[in-house]
Amino acid sequence: MYYCLMGPPGVGKGTQAVFLARKHALEHISTGNLLREAVSKKTKLGLQAQDYMNQGLLVPDDLMIAFVEEVFSLKGFILDGFPRTVPQAEALDSLMTRKGVALNQVVLLTLDEEELIKRLTGRRVALKSGRVYHLYFSPPKKEGLCDETGETLVQREDDKLEIVRPRLKRYFVEQSPLTEYYKEKGLIQEISAEGSPEEVRERLEELLNKN
Ligand code: AP5
Repeated sequence: MYYCLMGPPGVGKGTQAVFLARKHALEHISTGNLLREAVSKKTKLGLQAQDYMNQGLLVPDDLMIAFVEEVFSLKGFILDGFPRTVPQAEALDSLMTRKGVALNQVVLLTLDEEELIKRLTGRRVALKSGRVYHLYFSPPKKEGLCDETGETLVQREDDKLEIVRPRLKRYFVEQSPLTEYYKEKGLIQEISAEGSPEEVRERLEELLNKN
């Protein structure tokens, strides 16, 4: 199966994708995580992407499309954070057609802006283990430390309030043509990301099981 999870920053795409990938033995392809890894390893792409990411701006399409071609896998996957624009969606279609596969479903997670701000500004991440926490909604056992590695948790640069607000505003402008693109193809379904991660997971599973 080939799924794509879309939705605003902080809506919980990564949280849900990790669970779904494990449960259904799919590959979780998160362009955000892969880019952060590239930045930390100071690869050519990482150096090109870093400034855009810190400011909460999209990395240019040509870089992203070439990158996704590299990491694309024929094993079933859940795409998290890609595509973000119509040119990226078109490139994904053409790549999948060339490989003889097609997207099964695109799920758009939605949430109220104030709730998104709470989720983003309270998020803390462990850079080595890749685990994601939240100060209030999913805190670590020991304050400020990763449960798995004991490393110090940090706040992503793009999760600071002054970056979060314009980042969300841009998302809502950039997202609408992409939503239309998938609507025309009859591939997109919307679900609310309100409530606990378990509640959202149940809604998502119900939707995927129906199709
Ligand atoms: P990326 O990492 O993809 O960022 P994003 O889309 O902005 O999404 P986030 O990772 O911020 O949020 P999420 O929806 O995964 O939420 P999470 O599960 O962590 O991209 C980062 C940057 O990379 C972009 O800004 C851009 O520069 C670049 N980039 C990436 N892909 C690109 C592309 N295709 N084209 C161009 N540029 C690209 O949850 C958030 C928090 O809420 C966590 O703390 C979590 O614990 C908590 N939480 C989750 N669910 C719940 C719940 N139900 N209740 C309470 N808390 C919850």
